[in-house]
Amino acid sequence: PEPDLETDVLVVGAGPAGLAMAALLAQHGVDAVTVTKYAGTAHSPRAHITNQRTVEVFRDLGIEHQVLEVATPNALMGHNIWATSFAEQEIARLLTWGSGPERHGDYELASPSSMCNIPQHVLEPVLLDAARARGADLRFSTELVQVQQDADGVTATVRHRDDGAEQRIRARYLVGADGGRSTVADQLGFTFTGEAGLDAAANVWLEADLTAYTAHRPGTLYWMCQPGNDYWVGSGTWICVKPWTEWVLLFMYDPAEGEPDMSPESLVARAQQTIGDPKVDIRIKATSLWQINRQVARAYRRGRAFLVGDAAHRHPPANGLGTNTSIQDSFNLAWKLAYVLQGRAGEDLLDSYDAERRPVGEQVVDRAMRSVADMLPISKALGFAPGQTREEGLAALSGLYDATPEAAERRRALDDAIQLQNYQFNAHGVELDQRYTSGAVLDDGTSWPEPQRDPELYHHPTTHPGARLPHAWLTGEDADVSTIDLTGHGAFTVLTGVGGTRWVEAAEKIGAELGLPITTHVIAHGQTHVDTSGRWRALREIADDGVLLVRPDHHVAWRASAMTDNPLTDLEHAVRHTLSLA
Ligand code: FDA
Repeated sequence: PEPDLETDVLVVGAGPAGLAMAALLAQHGVDAVTVTKYAGTAHSPRAHITNQRTVEVFRDLGIEHQVLEVATPNALMGHNIWATSFAEQEIARLLTWGSGPERHGDYELASPSSMCNIPQHVLEPVLLDAARARGADLRFSTELVQVQQDADGVTATVRHRDDGAEQRIRARYLVGADGGRSTVADQLGFTFTGEAGLDAAANVWLEADLTAYTAHRPGTLYWMCQPGNDYWVGSGTWICVKPWTEWVLLFMYDPAEGEPDMSPESLVARAQQTIGDPKVDIRIKATSLWQINRQVARAYRRGRAFLVGDAAHRHPPANGLGTNTSIQDSFNLAWKLAYVLQGRAGEDLLDSYDAERRPVGEQVVDRAMRSVADMLPISKALGFAPGQTREEGLAALSGLYDATPEAAERRRALDDAIQLQNYQFNAHGVELDQRYTSGAVLDDGTSWPEPQRDPELYHHPTTHPGARLPHAWLTGEDADVSTIDLTGHGAFTVLTGVGGTRWVEAAEKIGAELGLPITTHVIAHGQTHVDTSGRWRALREIADDGVLLVRPDHHVAWRASAMTDNPLTDLEHAVRHTLSLA
């Protein structure tokens, strides 16, 4: 039978990955339809840590301001506190996400954007508005029930949950953004490495005014260390949803022992115990149980179908990489789909999505799993062990402060265990340094610079092809402008400096010939953007008359260290290579 609806791209799912995809495709002017099962966006806080790369995606979309308006700013994110309860003893603290003096400069130097804490139920409406404002076609209460593909496209059956009516949609490409239980992955034969259901957690979203216990040590995560279990640490992590009155209380449980008691009385008692002040009123808003998985798709592309977000990779929330990786997947794939559909790139460009994003997914899953394991030394140093009574556990904790060599050794072990948390909470290299090797990057034959510091903890800017363009503030006509701002917005960019005008002329010719948007900037005195601080010269790794070719997703496609004999031929070769054009 004839389809009821035809489109170029069918996006399934409107979580962070699908909404970002819908907004980005609309920005590119792609004909796309997004269907999603539920009647609205996320109804609970879920993921919340939003890193600089993700905020850069919002900046590219022109919605950074709207996001920051409703997010908790970086300045209020920083105190990671370990305590027996809010009202009782603080055991340890770590300043996180670049908020501490040791790391603040690193984060400031790395990006024009700052990290923020924005719970998913607050972020998703902003993304939805952005998608709709750009003309995206989004359909709620519309569930994908069946999908198949052939050489030319996909055929999907969707069911409207209001009235049960079914509709057939034919699309040239399919994006599965349908989360950890992806129907797209199941029905189109995607397979996964790793395991599901490793551990289980409960989220309790509640209101409780904890201003008295948190305003002087503002943070996102408060780890309440109480004896009785060694799951992660103690018996409850408080995640700030709205300073300082709305929270998620997250606790782990052992599914082998059945589901935890989720009755309001039991949850209020658990909350009260970890607050430590019976005068605080608690109002439970919603609860959910969820699983910890460790899975990555063996391929992110099968024919005309792609997986983005949790559909492709599932991992624990340690390092807060869930929504970040999901949105960044979409930022990688959206421009490629647009360019192929608009006839500006060869089909093979789409293979680079798997080549570039699957290694990132694998790293993210791996890092999150190690970070979970790295929390156990804290419980151990506190003296907590499974099967202890509360009294035994508290006695073991108080022994930490004895004037004995053994206690001193335990205190040292605790310090080390807290410092190890930097790999979860100040892992700037993990957050920022995703580097690509694929057919959509033309290597210049140079080796990647050796890291000067720990590559997981520290960002290492480089313009090596495949790296994200380094950020430097430039002096503009009215305001400072980031190098990142000169790129993106759907276009390729050519960046050069004094003596580089032949690159600009070449870019203009190539753009006209191939029908491509190529933005050009000469960063030099007398031009619109000037490197008055010298920061860009220090970062760019090329001479004044060299060139960087930057993709729409802010990654360097190619560079020349200086002017060449034939800039037109060389740049054209790089553009054609990047876009899989013959
Ligand atoms: P996501 O799961 O958000 O969205 C999937 C979308 O697909 C939904 O819109 C759904 O309606 C739709 N869909 C599914 N099947 C469909 C079908 N057949 N047809 C049509 N639509 C369909 N992460 C983190 O980093 N820190 C945290 O603290 C938490 N906490 C947390 C708590 C809870 C309760 C959950 C469920 C999850 C988390 N996460 C998390 C994980 C985080 O929420 C997750 O990584 C991101 O939401 C992934 O975004 P996606 O858009 O990929 O999928």
